[in-house]
Amino acid sequence: MTNHNTSPYSHLLLLAAVLALVSVASAFGPTSRLDLQKIMREERNYMQKKVIDISHKYVPDLPAYDSKTGLGNFIKLKTSIKLGDLYNFSVFKLTTHSGTHVDAPGHFNETLFELGYDVVSLHLQTLNGPVLVVDTPRNKNITAEVMRSLNIPRGVKRVLFRTSNTDRRLMYKKEFDSSYSAFTSDGAEYLAQNTDIKLVGVDYLSVAISPKDELLKVHQHLLNSKDIIPVEGLNLDDAVPGVYTIHCLPLRLVHGDGSPTSHSLPDLAWILQLLKSMRVRESVLAARIGTKYVAEIRIFGNTADQSFGSFIIFLAISVANYLWEKTVLHMC
Ligand SMILES: *[C@@H]1O[C@H](CO)[C@@H](O)[C@H](O)[C@H]1NC(C)=O
Ligand SMILES: *[C@@H]1O[C@H](CO)[C@@H](O)[C@H](O)[C@H]1NC(C)=O
Ligand SMILES: *[C@@H]1O[C@H](CO)[C@@H](O)[C@H](O)[C@H]1NC(C)=O
Repeated sequence: MTNHNTSPYSHLLLLAAVLALVSVASAFGPTSRLDLQKIMREERNYMQKKVIDISHKYVPDLPAYDSKTGLGNFIKLKTSIKLGDLYNFSVFKLTTHSGTHVDAPGHFNETLFELGYDVVSLHLQTLNGPVLVVDTPRNKNITAEVMRSLNIPRGVKRVLFRTSNTDRRLMYKKEFDSSYSAFTSDGAEYLAQNTDIKLVGVDYLSVAISPKDELLKVHQHLLNSKDIIPVEGLNLDDAVPGVYTIHCLPLRLVHGDGSPTSHSLPDLAWILQLLKSMRVRESVLAARIGTKYVAEIRIFGNTADQSFGSFIIFLAISVANYLWEKTVLHMC
């Protein structure tokens, strides 16, 4: 139900105020010419791709956790037109944590599992909505120190972390590689205690680094909260840092501790259109420059730039969250 007591203009006024702030702030964004050229190039790609599929294709060579042989032949024809049947009809067999997938709270916790915290219990509101894609420092795992340096503002509910796994194309290597980058236990603890992030996306098969004690602790920090959802094995090849909306739809597997998912990342076409029509395209660029600061903090090496970037992200995400909640969710 919409609220008829508020003036129809009050939302627009608030939005205009926020946008004005964004454009003022963007005017102060310090960026070198080279960076700007690079960002403009990425921006062009970003504008051209309206929707990006960020799930991996299920192929026999897709890596599987702790396996040398990948998924293998997971799909078989049961009836075949060529052999005279009326139709082709296949059966597939996959683990619940194959390829791009989500974890349920009960994955590492027997009590939660028995209480019914399976994949069906996951909130669609968390799985869908505005999302921030950030690049992490390539020479580190996602530790508390890295989380602090990323400076992701409060109010950001969904973040996809693009790490060296994407550069190393680990999801295209059949044999499992335990040297992947992911969260350390202190990084996960930091996320759970000091941010509003509820959807945590990573670009290899686990949200946690591989040593067993760390694997357990990271999952406990995230999953025991019952409202944080790790999304693992994402394909972030074409997802340059920026603000998008994510659509993430797990299968409704009752008692499932995880589920393969299909994901798409529409860029914020509607918000971009709106910003463009209000002649504040520069501010969207600045928001993405903002995330660039997050990623390339070593180049800029200036904490002032970092908090500027963080401020811009905060504004962009606030606008996105606001519009999402006031428009899309109200139509459902
Ligand atoms: C049906 O299965 C055969 C293999 O028996 C395959 O070659 C063919 O491409 C399939 N057709 C369709 C429409 O999927
Ligand atoms: C992340 O941790 C793993 C251990 O699980 C290690 O092999 C890898 O080198 C670390 N990555 C980075 C970038 O430090
Ligand atoms: C399982 O989750 C519950 C609820 O969050 C928590 O109280 C309990 O300590 C967890 N158990 C383990 C072994 O992590």
